[in-house]
Amino acid sequence: MAGDELAVSTLAEALLEQLRKPPFFVVLSGLRPTKGRALVSALMRAIAATPPVTAPLDRSGRLRLSFARVHLDPSKTAAAEGRSNTSYSRTNGPLALHTDSSYRESPHELIAFQMVRSACWGGETLIATGREVIESLDEEHRRSLRRPVFPLGKTKRAVLEQTGSSVTLRYYRAQLEASSRSSAPLDGPEDAALRALDASLSLEAFQYRFPLASGEVVFINNRRALHGRAAFPADSDRLLLRYRINAGCLAV
Ligand SMILES: [Fe+2]
Repeated sequence: MAGDELAVSTLAEALLEQLRKPPFFVVLSGLRPTKGRALVSALMRAIAATPPVTAPLDRSGRLRLSFARVHLDPSKTAAAEGRSNTSYSRTNGPLALHTDSSYRESPHELIAFQMVRSACWGGETLIATGREVIESLDEEHRRSLRRPVFPLGKTKRAVLEQTGSSVTLRYYRAQLEASSRSSAPLDGPEDAALRALDASLSLEAFQYRFPLASGEVVFINNRRALHGRAAFPADSDRLLLRYRINAGCLAV
């Protein structure tokens, strides 16, 4: 194994160990700020290559990695105001705590955000551990959230799911509301359970809040932690690189 490969593999092992236990996220610091994505891509794939491997292969025969540059896009601001969907991530407004790829049959278990340029103020990362939030809910609300009745994308899904020996969470209020427009609105116990979940997520006691500096990368176990973001200036040149990958090793 070449030196670089060994370093990536060793670091990936250390990251995976952290991602498997509370608080289910880890920040990698001390890197020189860069737009380059080679290191984080290699780390994501190295973690996802840990059995059981669930990520499909891309055209090059590597584990498929989803990548996006997240920066302000004024056209998306108007879209987000009208549609309440993931266009929000390209606005400067606050992003409520959520999990990514909530609408997918198999949401990405591993996501990462690499800060290239941070905002001059605001834009802090917010993270909450799913288990703490779930445990704060009444049993009746938890029961409602386990029912596959919540419209996410083209189908209805449960917000709380049993994954391996743990309860995992898929939740994105904005996506849920967007999907609800094409189906019957939620009411009764399901609506009450979502309100209770939102109330818990808004409690600072459950939130880790920290600025991500240029060069830093936060890796998040997307099935066991929710993430969000504070608002930042409308004229900011903040640039974030977002990575997502299926990682079966985080689903067991
Ligand atoms: Fe997100």
